[in-house]
Amino acid sequence: MKKLTGEVYYPSEKTLDNARVKNWDELNKFATENNTEFWEKEANELEWFSKWDKVLDDSNKPFYKWFTGAKTNIAYNCLDRHLHTFRKNKVALYWEGEKGDCRVFSYFALHREVSKFANVLKSLGVNKGDRVTFYMGRVPELPIGMLACARIGAVHSVVYGGFSVESLHERLEDSHSKVLVVSDGAFQRGKIVPLKAIADEALQRAASVESVLVIKRTGEAVNMEEGRDFWYQDLVNLPIINAKCPVEEVDSEDPLFLLYTSGTTGKPKAILHTQGGYMVGTYSTFKYVFDVNDEDRYWCAADPGWVTGHSYIVYGPLLNGATSFMYEGAPNYPFPNRWWQMIEKYGITILYTAPTAIRGLMRFGDAWPNRHDLSSLRLLGSVGEPINPEAWKWYHRVIGKNNCPIMDTWWQTETGAFIIAPMPSVPLKPGSGTRPFPGIIMDIVDEEGTPVKANEEGYLVIKNPWPSMMRTIYNDPDQYIQKYWSKYPGMYLTGDSARRDEDGYYWIIGRTDDVLKVSGYRLGTAEIESALVSHHSVAEAAAIGLPHEIKGNAIHTFVILKAGVEKSEELANELKEHVAHEVGKIAKPEDVKFVDILPKTRSGKIMRRVLKARALGQDPGNLSTLEE
Ligand code: WTA
Repeated sequence: MKKLTGEVYYPSEKTLDNARVKNWDELNKFATENNTEFWEKEANELEWFSKWDKVLDDSNKPFYKWFTGAKTNIAYNCLDRHLHTFRKNKVALYWEGEKGDCRVFSYFALHREVSKFANVLKSLGVNKGDRVTFYMGRVPELPIGMLACARIGAVHSVVYGGFSVESLHERLEDSHSKVLVVSDGAFQRGKIVPLKAIADEALQRAASVESVLVIKRTGEAVNMEEGRDFWYQDLVNLPIINAKCPVEEVDSEDPLFLLYTSGTTGKPKAILHTQGGYMVGTYSTFKYVFDVNDEDRYWCAADPGWVTGHSYIVYGPLLNGATSFMYEGAPNYPFPNRWWQMIEKYGITILYTAPTAIRGLMRFGDAWPNRHDLSSLRLLGSVGEPINPEAWKWYHRVIGKNNCPIMDTWWQTETGAFIIAPMPSVPLKPGSGTRPFPGIIMDIVDEEGTPVKANEEGYLVIKNPWPSMMRTIYNDPDQYIQKYWSKYPGMYLTGDSARRDEDGYYWIIGRTDDVLKVSGYRLGTAEIESALVSHHSVAEAAAIGLPHEIKGNAIHTFVILKAGVEKSEELANELKEHVAHEVGKIAKPEDVKFVDILPKTRSGKIMRRVLKARALGQDPGNLSTLEE
């Protein structure tokens, strides 16, 4: 194996022996030189009702299309495909609630539940192409409902349960959802988050929703509006609902889901993914990077409401016929050993989580994990933000017992699947996701689009299309071109800055736009600012992220009050709560500072970098555009 620079963790003999891909360079060479052939080979491992005319149609760049002319269905490939094999009786999903209640679904059972859910959706008038929004905790009905949509060609839009009234309202409105699926509430650290009550408030602001399907989870009393709200459990048990639900043979390019994500404007944008390409991308990346096999018990601890959950709780694992585990609650509730206890109980072999969770658990010390048998683990994963080497090493040593390679996976809602990620046989460097997935061509460029030298910082770009790439921003194709393809024609702009070392390993530095990663959650400063100014006492507001030991970034805000409004501690607290109520708890500012002016450019844009530099006691840099 080639000698690499810096601190390197080489794969053990055992890892190498068991690795599906022993020679990464060879696979990468093939995939790069024969890119469409590579993806076609991957696609051929899945089932298609009819095959494509073209693997890649790039006749209308940057609106790339994949596997055009083909007919398939991702939910069919996730479930039905396995029913003709021994996997029919294999566990697809183990689930544990925060209270310790358990549910288990074989592939057969999951297929049955998905079919019934799909029939319930149909009974509410959901047709191919209709949008269905989900707003729930981490319960099996969420993946089941998503797959039910896919099965009938409806488009799911999952809104993370940590979001609140205005975030949900905006997403319902923008997607024109016909049906909202919501749980009565969600358990979180022993308390109940009243999701249905929040949804009721959002529904007062949104018009398109015809029916609300309520999943009973907590059993708390909720308001049910006659003619609009239905208990899922009532409908699914009706004699007219059965488990016979023909699969919709969709076009490869038919939409699969919308997922809203934060960008630089106040309004979150809906990233659109389609059935065929997304299926091939998630199938293939999951197979190679987590190198899963039938003996594995895989746990992705993300929330299905984020892209990580879409691609690597729901679609990637099921496409591969894997056994997954899903847990409802928080990592440290009721005690900091909750995760370790479940790894032991279920014999988890692959754990995929975020740096913020690792840092949060590391804080409680080694005794908590050391009390448990974690020897089933063979592979670890990380996603969501750069992992600091200290957390990487703790994860590797204390959780992985120095035996588990860490797959640090860089990707985005927009990319649908892993873009930079190792494979178990690849030598690792703590803090680097290593190199782009085979066949993906990336670069780091300067302001003019010229590649920078090794170890220099620049803009991270992707230079060729890939099957699971976003197709557009729903209802806003111009913004799709503008945001991702206009800075450098022909290159996809990721929005991240990075450097590449002499071995070709990528090191992500952070976002170059006004997107913040708070505990791995993606938030836009503009969303927080618009929530603040929606409060009657606020005239103007600015939000910035400052480094935080566990969260990665914490939100700090600066507020100009309307004339005549008094500054006070109470008002600051009220504003924090207001943001939590409108956007969600995850967006609640760490602090609110009252100021008289904000640094702005002459064209009126708030210069957040100046606020940030001042808060950190750093030099604010070039101030030539600052208003007098
Ligand atoms: C960041 C999450 C460093 C990055 C899958 C990206 C990462 C944004 C990593 C996308 C990683 C994600 N190392 N940074 N392994 N993974 N990011 O859309 O800034 O929620 O642009 O998708 O997260 O966030 P998103």
